[in-house]
Amino acid sequence: MIIAVDGPTASGKGTVARAVAAHFGLPHLDTGLLYRAVGYTVARMGGDPDDPASALAGTGFPDATLADPELRSEDVGGLASRVSRHPQVRAALFERQRAFATQPGGAVLDGRDIGTVIAPEAEAKLFVTASLAARAERRFREMRDSGRQADLRDILDDLTARDERDQNRADAPLKVAEGACVLDTTGMTIEQAIAEAVAAVNAATGVP
Ligand code: DC
Repeated sequence: MIIAVDGPTASGKGTVARAVAAHFGLPHLDTGLLYRAVGYTVARMGGDPDDPASALAGTGFPDATLADPELRSEDVGGLASRVSRHPQVRAALFERQRAFATQPGGAVLDGRDIGTVIAPEAEAKLFVTASLAARAERRFREMRDSGRQADLRDILDDLTARDERDQNRADAPLKVAEGACVLDTTGMTIEQAIAEAVAAVNAATGVP
């Protein structure tokens, strides 16, 4: 069984995907981490994330990069969004994601194009979203709670720019996949969002 979880930044899709994977006993891949590793590697090499050749060179990152806590930073998220616009970068990361999705026994993948490009045949597709204000508020609290400097206005601007880029790129833009269940988590607790996601997967796979 393949479960595809897509959605914008700070929608809660990562949390939902992890919990759904644990519930169904499936392995989970956070595909955003791959794009983050590319963006981070390009920056470390002194390359330009907006230049296709430079961005493509970043796809050669060693596996150890995926464990670097720096990948979770807002800055690296912005770099990831920029390198992810290049079709060459997306093509270079395709096989790895496809192999994970089609492993025997099934898998859960979260990202932007799982239900549309990586695994359009997924048995269950979720599109996790929330209002811009709710997503900004969550990101703000998350940053403040981890002791980082946080400014709500900056976060709103950053999320707006990321949404704009992710939704309007020519190759594999963020959009609701055909047959996906849209889960709007605005006003939901984490527990509610997880329960709704599990129910949606059960409904999609025919479990009463
Ligand atoms: O989910 P995230 O915030 O870690 O993703 C970072 C960026 O990577 C996101 O802004 C766009 C890109 N991305 C993508 O283009 N396709 C995916 N499947 C996952 C992430």
